[in-house]
Amino acid sequence: MVSTPQGCFITFEGVEGSGKTTQVELLADRLRHAGRTVVTTREPGGTPISDRIRAVVLDRQNVEIHPHTEALLMCAARAQLVHEVIQPALDAGQVIICDRYSDSTFAYQGYARGQDLATLRTLNAFATGGLAPHLTILLDLPVEDGLQRRFGAGASAASTNRMDRLDLEFHRRVAAGYHGLAQAEPDRWRLVDAQEAVDDVAAAIWEITAAALNCS
Ligand code: TYD
Repeated sequence: MVSTPQGCFITFEGVEGSGKTTQVELLADRLRHAGRTVVTTREPGGTPISDRIRAVVLDRQNVEIHPHTEALLMCAARAQLVHEVIQPALDAGQVIICDRYSDSTFAYQGYARGQDLATLRTLNAFATGGLAPHLTILLDLPVEDGLQRRFGAGASAASTNRMDRLDLEFHRRVAAGYHGLAQAEPDRWRLVDAQEAVDDVAAAIWEITAAALNCS
């Protein structure tokens, strides 16, 4: 009898411009070559309903969104994604890689926006049914470098959203929040230096993931 591989849930976190999207796809390709079935998704978004929530919460014109509304919308988008995509993929023994997840809410709405972390944890637990990633990769990069990548030469204003338009101090608090979260749960988090060349970052991520998944 062929046994179904164990499902695995991997998340990527990092400040704006840290290269998560590229690295998610490179890791997915490599895992597929290693014979795994991989689902990639992102937050906020990843289902038709979650994408509609994303459009509201990230719209640069929606300046009047209250911080509580922002937190609830992030969690609402996540609830739909968990129940429609992530949990079914895990149940089928697949690898699911998500570009941002709950830690983004703690870093952005909690540490950076100053909302109560305990309340955010309660909301998030309700949204996710307590589903936590097996492995979280933090693409670590100075905030200024990330914003330069996002807003520097070649970046179009249309590709920026309500959150990444916030000031440098906000993004510094996001980065500090990530480091605090990673220190609190060292078994789940792995830090990768995102200043290195794309291929070197991908190689570091592969080494971590292959060890965690026991594949090569
Ligand atoms: P996106 O364009 O996907 O940016 P990135 O490539 O940096 O992921 O925008 C998502 C934005 O939403 C990003 O600025 C982080 C923010 N965000 C939160 O504030 N809270 C959350 O819970 C999530 C998932 C994202």
